[in-house]
Amino acid sequence: MSRESEFVVVANRLPVDRVAGGNGWRRSPGGLVSAIAPVMRSRQGTWVGWSGAAGEDLDPFVEDGMRLVPVRQSAEDVELYYEGFSNATLWPLYHDVIAPPVYDRAMWDAYVRVNERFAAAAAEVAAEGAVVWVQDYQLQLVPAMLRALRPDLKIGFFLHIPFPPPELFYQLPWRRKILEGLLGADLVGFQLPGAAANFVRLCRRLLDARTVKQDVEWEGRRVRARAFPISVDVGELRELISRQEVRWRADEIRADLGGGIVLLGVDRLDYTKGITQRLQAFGELFADRELKPGEAVFAQIATPSRERVEQYQLLRDQIEQQVGRINGEHAELGSPVIHYLHTSYDREELAALFLAADVMVVTPLRDGMNLVAKEYVACREDLRGVLVLSEFAGAAPELRRGAFLVNPYDIDGLKETLLTAIRCEPAEQARRMRVLRKRVLEHDVDRWAADFLDELEDPAAQPAG
Ligand code: ADP
Ligand code: F6P
Repeated sequence: MSRESEFVVVANRLPVDRVAGGNGWRRSPGGLVSAIAPVMRSRQGTWVGWSGAAGEDLDPFVEDGMRLVPVRQSAEDVELYYEGFSNATLWPLYHDVIAPPVYDRAMWDAYVRVNERFAAAAAEVAAEGAVVWVQDYQLQLVPAMLRALRPDLKIGFFLHIPFPPPELFYQLPWRRKILEGLLGADLVGFQLPGAAANFVRLCRRLLDARTVKQDVEWEGRRVRARAFPISVDVGELRELISRQEVRWRADEIRADLGGGIVLLGVDRLDYTKGITQRLQAFGELFADRELKPGEAVFAQIATPSRERVEQYQLLRDQIEQQVGRINGEHAELGSPVIHYLHTSYDREELAALFLAADVMVVTPLRDGMNLVAKEYVACREDLRGVLVLSEFAGAAPELRRGAFLVNPYDIDGLKETLLTAIRCEPAEQARRMRVLRKRVLEHDVDRWAADFLDELEDPAAQPAG
């Protein structure tokens, strides 16, 4: 498979997961894969990524109409590049330093080494003049490495998580190298305009680059920094909620939860998601006698994530203790106030949960976008349910008019908002949900992908002269 793909996606993970117990693969769930899969097929694209298993050597293969090129990661790479520099350094640094970032030279060396491997794999499969779209914080050095190998390519990069302000980014010992890596792209995409502005400001201050509005002049090229808020696969969710079995399952979930008001949280188990803050606020409403057991119940679904990284282990213990304490103090026999499930669900079950929830509680302390908030809205064709959304989610500017916005650090404010949401009348729910749905349905993930690729391939975007 040498130099024949006109369209190449490069991401840390391949878009397929191994079928449990078997040798086969199936497409990974999630909007990014659904958005890119049609473009991959129409352009005969290739996806370069890691299989998710340490030390696995796989030949390129075709699955679900997509050509897949696995990039190997040894157990040491997984520890230092993935769990280390990606998720113990960049992840906390880019999320407002909620947890202390680890600055470790061996981790940085592994990040460089693995990024080189991804760039080499992409350079090998891309046709002359092809479009290569690099995804996310794990691969920020790939654009420049790839340009050095293949100056003929059109290179786009999209960051799915926040990009921090200079005051935080300055901490990073390898800060210039990261900026130079990103500047290998023709177009650097961010979730929000503020993130693009942070990037441009940093290029000016740290690299002395000339900038014109949202463009950075670099090595004789003009690099564009733009915002493209990502969204969800509305068509897929619409199909799911049209299934009778999904609706029956939603009724069953409501009955199993006791018939009271259902509040729902669905997140990866991550310290950026504000899970402890929302549970604390909910628990205090019982202590204050604002709520009685049986009147309202919180279902918190937390997908296991990055389980070998220390901060994730600490968080899991903290949440499990907290749930035990709140239920111990406020539950009655047969009526827990919090149902906590540390597991991952398939899309049908998630859709049923969204349909079952009266109040969707999305309270990240910082989040690039938060797709769960948009998925909930996309599922509520019935115009019922309310969304409580953190001001610090990337989705907040788009959804602020229909959601109940909260500052998750303000526990009293959070309690008040939860009560208002619980007591929201059906007519007001419908009014808000209409506003939310208009935005999400008009800006789905297909539009996101098309907007990014149109901008990347815009013939009017001239190199700096
Ligand atoms: P992040 O990318 O930080 O995990 P997002 O909210 O943007 O956060 O995306 C999370 C994705 O993972 C959503 O598509 C959501 O439906 C899915 N997801 C979250 N929790 C679960 C779960 N317990 N089971 C299955 N999918 C989940
Ligand atoms: O959006 C952030 C992100 O890290 C993605 O890059 C990734 O696919 C997802 O969250 C899940 O994280 P991980 O690949 O570490 O399980």
